[in-house]
Amino acid sequence: MIPANPKLQPKKTFPKEVYLNGEWINSEKAFISVFDRGFLLGDGIYEVTPFYDGKPFRLKDHLDRLQYCLNEIQIEFDAFSLQEIMLEAVSRSGCSQIDCAVYIQINRGVAPRTHFFPQQIQPTILLYAFPVSLNEFESKQASVLVSEDLRWHRCDIKSISLMANIKANNQAHSLGLDENLLIRDEFFTEGSHTTIFFVKDKMIFTHPEGSHILSGITRKVILEMCREMDLELSEKALHIDELKEVDEVFLTGTTTQILAVKSMLLNENEIFNMPETGEITRQLQQAFIKLTRSLT
Ligand code: PDD
Repeated sequence: MIPANPKLQPKKTFPKEVYLNGEWINSEKAFISVFDRGFLLGDGIYEVTPFYDGKPFRLKDHLDRLQYCLNEIQIEFDAFSLQEIMLEAVSRSGCSQIDCAVYIQINRGVAPRTHFFPQQIQPTILLYAFPVSLNEFESKQASVLVSEDLRWHRCDIKSISLMANIKANNQAHSLGLDENLLIRDEFFTEGSHTTIFFVKDKMIFTHPEGSHILSGITRKVILEMCREMDLELSEKALHIDELKEVDEVFLTGTTTQILAVKSMLLNENEIFNMPETGEITRQLQQAFIKLTRSLT
């Protein structure tokens, strides 16, 4: 078994304090009801927003996506009402000058268990900041496992029900690998927690937006950078048979940033190696560093 890459798996700890339903609470004393629908049914959504040197990156995009998800699952709540609380979470956790992220979870609330949405209940709101390493991603590389995409057909909703994602990623992890390239009907969709980009003959490919991927905020940033840098990009899903023709593969995400893929394991025996971070990946990484390290 290949040992897991410690660089990609930093030690995680609990935050000291969380914001839960309108109050800041010592996290050891923060509890929700066993009848919370997030706990019973996975009836909730979440969002993760990065803060570079304590400054929010694409805050509006993250809150827009949170609002979209709330609307899609019919939870009446104003996502933007959390904006100030997110900033407060960063300062309260001592992260005002360092890299961190804010996790938000909104569940439908507490009610006797039903399969329909109960009306007139208060959503459960959990929010906290945590330090995260957003440095030196450009010097890291990932090894990935090609896995079947067993998720539902609303991957555009950032649902807290992540069983298919974590099951896939756990298989990768148990093989000493970092992430998955998920395949639905022979086409690559995304990673278990990242967006996938392929480079083939200088053309960058990524899956189009829709119900089979999450509309990644980092994905959106990459698309904008490609336009500015005159890099050719096609929002077209790549077929599994095209894998052997790709020159570069990289993964993107809020905490993953832009991570080069160095090897891909297919069918547990066929391995594709790409030992060097490719030229286009490097160019995008440098542009991304400039963008994220010049926030005001
Ligand atoms: N994951 N696709 C999936 C399935 C994801 O879970 C994520 C993010 C992405 C990338 O989206 P963004 O660029 O907006 O972070 C794509 C988050 C960070 C998580 O689950 O922790």
